[in-house]
Amino acid sequence: MKERILVTGGTGYIGSHTVVELQNNGYDVVIVDNLSNSRADVVDNIEKITGIRPAFEHVDCLDYAALENVFTKYPGIKGIIHFAASKAVGESVQKPLLYYRNNIVSLINLLELMPRHGVEGIIFSSSCTVYGQPDHLPVTEEAPIKKAESPYGNTKQINEEIIRDTIASGSPIHAILLRYFNPIGAHPTALIGELPNGVPQNLIPYLTQTAIGIREKLTVFGDDYNTPDGSCIRDYIYVVDLAKAHVTAMHRILDGKQKDTVEVFNIGTGKGVSVLELIHAFEASTGVKLNYQIGKRRAGDIEQVWADPTYANNELGWKAETSLEDTLRSAWEWQLKLRENGIQ
Ligand code: NAD
Ligand code: WQD
Repeated sequence: MKERILVTGGTGYIGSHTVVELQNNGYDVVIVDNLSNSRADVVDNIEKITGIRPAFEHVDCLDYAALENVFTKYPGIKGIIHFAASKAVGESVQKPLLYYRNNIVSLINLLELMPRHGVEGIIFSSSCTVYGQPDHLPVTEEAPIKKAESPYGNTKQINEEIIRDTIASGSPIHAILLRYFNPIGAHPTALIGELPNGVPQNLIPYLTQTAIGIREKLTVFGDDYNTPDGSCIRDYIYVVDLAKAHVTAMHRILDGKQKDTVEVFNIGTGKGVSVLELIHAFEASTGVKLNYQIGKRRAGDIEQVWADPTYANNELGWKAETSLEDTLRSAWEWQLKLRENGIQ
């Protein structure tokens, strides 16, 4: 009997890749998504990849009644992976109440519904943003949580606390908090990938849109940081490797292997890569020359952060496997496919 998993935000970037990996591992998946930042045809493309069409409910996690109906319509949901959220850091500064409502109330709704419907565990999409600029690198799960630089980052910190407090109050559920570093790339089939609305805020979609000619030039936001080449350093992790971490975490919860009712794992490669190094790696791995310039620093940017993934490697039994070059090639193939399909 396939175990049933609810994936909120499952037509989104990371969610869609995770649905594929869940299906590849024999799970029965139900997607809930309000399509505020994704398209319904992602369900078709997931089916093309796995041969299995996931159930899809066009529901807003803020709509408690509609969300409860999903649990009634699909009985026996054992676990939830909660991706659904608004995630644009800059937008969160302009529209904090939208972010606090969407990201916090959607989680509260799920936490209330879980014990009512026998759901055993939840995996929460957290972010390395909770660490701010770490005092020591690479950053471990024991690093202190720093004051959030944005309402978006604050919602991640608050949500982690809400989960801990809910479980501490006696809720019979378990949780794994996955703190992602910088997910990039696309599925090897180029059928699913990152589809940013409007002008991309993140580096890789802006870079590939520049490489294909949609954007005229990529601006490197500062080369006067205290790093070897002056540009910021991040831990860029292949989205499929990240997706696989969720399957491993769900196995851990449902197989009763957790050592605590709430566990936290840093999901990164453990390798810091600068913006300039990434640009050169893109050019070398795709053969495409990139038009870029050095510009001013971007307000709020962390200078350098990358993960110590030892705990996830040893305890969770997960490790990032894909090279930066293969990851960047997948991002480029996806951008080419978008042009071929007239989407971008
Ligand atoms: P995404 O925007 O592609 O996916 C989020 C999905 O959730 C979208 O499909 C959107 O339509 C849906 N959604 C939003 N609000 C909803 C609601 N109220 N009800 C139902 N569906 C809703 O983003 P992503 O990059 O896949 O990120 C997924 C999760 O991972 C988010 O929680 C994000 O904060 C977190 N995260 C992302 C990154 C990153 O760099 N992409 C890094 C760290 C953490
Ligand atoms: C990466 C690097 C930029 C664009 C953000 C959120 C984080 C998470 C991941 C949700 C930085 C530089 C970028 C450009 C550039 N999202 N850059 N030119 O800022 O590390 O993290 O996305 O959880 O919470 O903060 O990712 O891709 O925006 O930037 O030079 O046009 O690329 O300065 O050093 P970031 P990013």
